[in-house]
Amino acid sequence: MVEDIRLDSLEGVGPVTTRKLSDAGVHNVMDLIVRGPVEIAEITGMEKDTAEKIVNKARQHLVEGGLLSKDFVSASEIYKHRQLIGKITTGTNCLDTLFDGGVETQALTEVYGEFGCGKTQFAHTMSVMVQRSKEDGGLEGGVLYIDTENTFRPERIVSIAQANGLDPEKILDNIIVARAYNSAHQTLILEEAGSVIDENNIKLIVADSAVGLFRSEYLGRGTLSNRQQKLNHFVHLLSRIAETYNCAAIATNQVMASPDVFFGDPTRPIGGNVVAHTSTYRIYFKKSGKKRIARMVDSPHHPEEEVIFALAEAGVVDPEDAEKKTKKTKKTKSVETPDKETVETPEKTEKKTVETPDKETVETPDKETVETPETKTETTSDTPNDNLDPLEE
Ligand SMILES: Nc1ncnc2c1ncn2[C@@H]1O[C@H](COP(=O)(O)OP(=O)(O)OP(=O)(O)O)[C@@H](O)[C@H]1O
Ligand SMILES: [Mg+2]
Repeated sequence: MVEDIRLDSLEGVGPVTTRKLSDAGVHNVMDLIVRGPVEIAEITGMEKDTAEKIVNKARQHLVEGGLLSKDFVSASEIYKHRQLIGKITTGTNCLDTLFDGGVETQALTEVYGEFGCGKTQFAHTMSVMVQRSKEDGGLEGGVLYIDTENTFRPERIVSIAQANGLDPEKILDNIIVARAYNSAHQTLILEEAGSVIDENNIKLIVADSAVGLFRSEYLGRGTLSNRQQKLNHFVHLLSRIAETYNCAAIATNQVMASPDVFFGDPTRPIGGNVVAHTSTYRIYFKKSGKKRIARMVDSPHHPEEEVIFALAEAGVVDPEDAEKKTKKTKKTKSVETPDKETVETPEKTEKKTVETPDKETVETPDKETVETPETKTETTSDTPNDNLDPLEE
């Protein structure tokens, strides 16, 4: 496969163009398709016509090699092609039911919800699940984990791997973590990801969070269209990579208060329409006491339904499994961190969700019942531009 997609395997692409392209981070034929002619012309300084020709040739090359579907295809061919889509089990019955078998390759799955609802835990769990054998619902593939909030925790991977009877060291070796420091860096990581994906048999790309850095960097009304344009570029790139390389892509997204919603939940994802329109599947995670609710919000073929899941040492789990575990471990865990729970400002809780894994077992019932929609709304509107988004997106 690596041989087939080398740039110099394209007719008419000589060493000079190859060098120009690889200087610009385009390392193989797949990258050409992912970036598209406009961007190729921009980054290499070549004429747009030339770039178009090269990209068309690249597409033809991949179609001939069976790596990409043709431009005009019959519905039955699409149906056949869809049979080839890989699905990654979530390791739970409840979420597998929601996903109709698991998280799909060639698709972008957006998971959104308030802080602490389990988006990062889900991303960690999937980073282990994708490595499972095919018989066990995995794809025997690696992971590219783009961490924008510094919340990737190898310790969690170890726990999840152990809970699933997998060798933690091997599992860790197959997760490539890219820590993104700003939104431009986050985009660059993805632009350069082609060869990493190919060489490491990456089957899952995680962007956790996809939107956070864009949101914190572009503050104020005047910068919104610029932010949305940049975010649009990132999300489209992610989706095209998933399609071209036959990987699953998971993007997480927080929610914010939405003053224009009068019925139902007064929160919505912060990426606004850009992320929503590009995602193939959108899942909403919501806290419900110690449990979590997952709802399939947008899907071309799933019914809109809800399931209940839980968070545990083993990652995302079926609620009945969490109960068993909690009963067993409750005594020891509540002794370990007895007083940490008393500091209950939203910000503290947010940080703590990542650092004190045993939080779930020490949460008192009263705390859970205080969670009203108002509290959530307040905690999610933590930057001034929150209120601007609904007006402009
Ligand atoms: N080892 C563990 N055992 C049980 N529960 C855990 C463990 N680690 C984390 N959790 C649970 O996961 C929650 C945090 O979830 P997570 O970090 O995935 O939230 P998030 O949706 O990513 O939030 P944010 O928007 O702040 O990134 C904690 O509140 C806790 O309930
Ligand atoms: Mg998180």
